[in-house]
Amino acid sequence: MVEQSLWMQKVAADPGHSDWYVERMRGLARAGDDLAGEARLVDAMVPRGARVLDAGCGPGRVGAALAAAGHRVVGVDVDPTLIAAAEQDHPGPRWLVADLAELDLPARGIDEPFDAIVCAGNVLAFLAPATRREVLRRFRAHLAPEGRVAAGFGAGRGYGFDEFFADVAAAGLEVDLALSTWDVRPFTSDSEFVVALLRC
Ligand SMILES: C[S@@+](CC[C@H](N)C(=O)[O-])C[C@H]1O[C@@H](n2cnc3c(N)ncnc32)[C@H](O)[C@@H]1O
Repeated sequence: MVEQSLWMQKVAADPGHSDWYVERMRGLARAGDDLAGEARLVDAMVPRGARVLDAGCGPGRVGAALAAAGHRVVGVDVDPTLIAAAEQDHPGPRWLVADLAELDLPARGIDEPFDAIVCAGNVLAFLAPATRREVLRRFRAHLAPEGRVAAGFGAGRGYGFDEFFADVAAAGLEVDLALSTWDVRPFTSDSEFVVALLRC
C-alpha cells in the first residue's frame, strides 16, 4: 500500500465529496460548458486512433472527449465513486480504479504502451507528496517510445513548479515544452498554472 492520496484523504474527511464532484461535472456538462480544452491539446499531439491514458480521470470528462475524437482511451482513478460515474456517463473507454503510484497496466491485461498520457485537473497536486516521483516514473514506464505526457496543475496547491520540474527530471522525463494554459500560452516565472509536455 502507498500513502493515501490527498484526494482520498479529503473523501475520508467528507464522504460526500466524490458525489459532489460528480454532480458538479454533470452540472457543467448540462450547462454546455467547454469541458474538452485539455483533450483538444492532446488530440493535436497524437496520430488518429492513438492510445491515450487519462491519469486521474475522475468522472471521465477528458477521456470521454478523447474517445469521441476516435482515440483508444484508458482512464485510471483512485476514487471508485468517480470511476462508477465515468462508466455510467461515458461508456466506451476502459475505466479502472487504481492508485497512480501503483500503476501497472500490464498486470491488468493492458500491455500496449500509450502515445499520450494526460493528467489534467490538478491531479498531480492531489497526490500524496511522497508518491509524486513514483507516479511520474510510472507514467514514463507506460509511455510508447515516442509517447508524451501532458500534465497540468495550478500554483498555490502545495506543489511548487520548481519542485515539479525537479521531480520530472528525477523520474527520467524531459520537458519538451512548458505552457501556462491548455490553449498554448507560454509558461513564465509569473505563471499561475503549468501545462508540461514531457517525453522519455
Ligand atoms: C480535481 S479531480 C480531476 C479529475 C479529472 N482529471 C478532470 O480533470 O476532470 C482530481 C482527481 O485526481 C484523482 N487522484 C488523486 N490522487 C490520485 C492517485 N494517487 N491515483 C489516482 N487518481 C488520483 C482524484 O481521485 C480525482 O479524480
